Amino acid sequence: MVKKELQGGAVTLYCADALEVLAGMAENSVDLIAMDPPYFRVKGEAWDNQWPSVEAYLAWLDEVLLGCWRVLRPAGSLYLFCGHKLAAETEQLVKARFNLLSHIIWAKPNGPWRRQNKAQLRAFFPSTERILFAEHYGAEGMAKGCSGYAAKCAELRKGVFAPLIEYFAQAKEALGVSAAEINAATGTKMCSHWFSYSQWQLPSAQQYEALQRLFAGKAAALERPYEALQSEYADLGKQYQALARQYDELKQEYEQLRRPFAVSAEVPYTDVWQFAPVAYYPGKHPCEKPQDLMRHIIQCSSREGQVVGDFFMGSGATGKAAVALGRQFIGVELEQPRYEQTCGEMLEALGQ
Ligand SMILES: C[S@@+](CC[C@H](N)C(=O)[O-])C[C@H]1O[C@@H](n2cnc3c(N)ncnc32)[C@H](O)[C@@H]1O
Repeated sequence: MVKKELQGGAVTLYCADALEVLAGMAENSVDLIAMDPPYFRVKGEAWDNQWPSVEAYLAWLDEVLLGCWRVLRPAGSLYLFCGHKLAAETEQLVKARFNLLSHIIWAKPNGPWRRQNKAQLRAFFPSTERILFAEHYGAEGMAKGCSGYAAKCAELRKGVFAPLIEYFAQAKEALGVSAAEINAATGTKMCSHWFSYSQWQLPSAQQYEALQRLFAGKAAALERPYEALQSEYADLGKQYQALARQYDELKQEYEQLRRPFAVSAEVPYTDVWQFAPVAYYPGKHPCEKPQDLMRHIIQCSSREGQVVGDFFMGSGATGKAAVALGRQFIGVELEQPRYEQTCGEMLEALGQ
């Protein structure tokens, strides 16, 4: 295995097998994986014809995905390029390990189909590549045992709204009012939302009045003074607004725990993307991905300084886009001549 470190270690390039590099990497060390493995028997090159059968290829791809699952951080993103032929099988593999978010169609505005003899076609000419976009299952909650954004927010919510939650919960407890009585009196199934910590919500004014009537009736039946739920609804509303503002402010601190995702009207924000393929030039990689497409992925799904990985880097399109956008990069390429060429181009891109 050959390893080169550039830009003070911010860029690491391996000439090696992807599985070997993945196995040696630390768990949860990559924020964004954008990779374009061989599609299997689409190109004439040796690297696309390494497997004796589709089954062997898919078993290998699954091993790669397992390695990716291990190194991808809990709030990380995976973009996996695949061809139209094995898109369905590849999607099944991804879904077995990751939560599939989008099956993106990269519709190329030009390509070899223009030269096809249309009358000879026996099926529609494939003019697309696919990009499967996925995250870890439970990314916002407890992915890989880590407490993510949603879990932290739920915890914070309990703490911030505790005075209001306790106001309701203690009233219920003091008079021994049952969930069935509360639901019947308000014509809802909201008892668990108003009287417990999980998913707590403030009842509406009308619901609150119904609760006050129920609790007063209960106190009278027990011959006890009616002390519960005495606050004016307007006061509860004001308290709620103040706590909600406090909660929103504190929640901002957890934003970094969230999978980054940023699109706008100016960039492709649907699952159909149009990017022109890279035009031929001497030394071009046969599968080189366009810089604008790679930049789009990196800008949408990573933050500055984060680690981007491409374990089938070819020409280094992912790496070049990553360094241009101020991300760290880990790249792997099996074939030595291509690796050397890409290292040279990356050095040039870095101005080194
Ligand atoms: C589809 S191409 C990637 C092209 C790349 N996205 C680009 O824009 O240039 C796949 C690349 O993976 C490399 N490759 C194939 N098998 C590999 C393996 N087991 N480990 C690492 N690289 C491998 C191939 O040599 C080839 O350059």
